[in-house]
Amino acid sequence: MKGRILAVANQKGGVGKTTTALTLAAALARMNLKVLVMDLDPHACASVHLRYYPDSVELSAYDVFVSPEEEWPALWQKIRCRQDEQIFDMVPASIRLSELEGDLRDRVGKGGILKMALELVREEYDYIILDCPPHLGLLQINALVACDLLIIPIQTDFLALHGLKLLFDSIRLLNKVLPEPVKYRALATMYDKRAGACRRVLELLGKKMGGNMFETVIGIDTRFRDASAFGKVVYDIDPHSRGAKGYENLAKEIVALL
Ligand SMILES: Nc1ncnc2c1ncn2[C@@H]1O[C@H](COP(=O)(O)OP(=O)(O)OP(=O)(O)O)[C@@H](O)[C@H]1O
Ligand SMILES: [Mg+2]
Repeated sequence: MKGRILAVANQKGGVGKTTTALTLAAALARMNLKVLVMDLDPHACASVHLRYYPDSVELSAYDVFVSPEEEWPALWQKIRCRQDEQIFDMVPASIRLSELEGDLRDRVGKGGILKMALELVREEYDYIILDCPPHLGLLQINALVACDLLIIPIQTDFLALHGLKLLFDSIRLLNKVLPEPVKYRALATMYDKRAGACRRVLELLGKKMGGNMFETVIGIDTRFRDASAFGKVVYDIDPHSRGAKGYENLAKEIVALL
């Protein structure tokens, strides 16, 4: 079976997209599944988290978008990285991704570039996870077009639903041209069960999203910040933490889903 492509997106910043992409990748890899993470954010947070610094990265996700198709096979061999101790492959980002809108201004079919490029490596993986930038644009469109499932991390705070309309507007627009509608699931993140506001937001989310919500709720856990400070994922520093267990449950839900 071809690898399933998961896009992690929400144009709201700081809601746990990158944490979800990396921790879910590690959780799936710990289930002996083959995983690739692609960092599509010009800020390169996922890359820097794993100690791939944009200044020292020669080839990045950017090159996939601007290289001719016949160069893709060789490019895929060069842009996938794996350091010692890393249990999944990674394609780092580059600040140049921020210039993509201009670089591809006149390119026909530019929303489908990533989907086509990923076809070349899909067979090698069980899951490919795309970490999206916190704004709508060409990169997010490419991720939505390519994905089999969109994961929308939503921070359980009182502004959680603010701005989601924009994301759903773009999904509705895409659904008009895609062969099948974009499949999505919302993921509640940074949940603090002691806070009444969090509990109310979670309840509201459940009502709004209905069946399009993961059962797993990711709790607030300081171990995520600790892990990123060490350039690691939470399993490397505390595999029994609440956060680690949360993403383990999410991985199981995803495997059961697709
Ligand atoms: N469940 C959690 N509990 C506590 N802290 C968390 C949790 N998830 C993420 N964080 C922390 O919150 C911050 C933002 O998370 P993250 O970078 O994953 O968000 P993002 O949506 O990718 O942000 P951006 O929009 O800037 O790309 C980070 O410092 C991260 O360590
Ligand atoms: Mg991020």
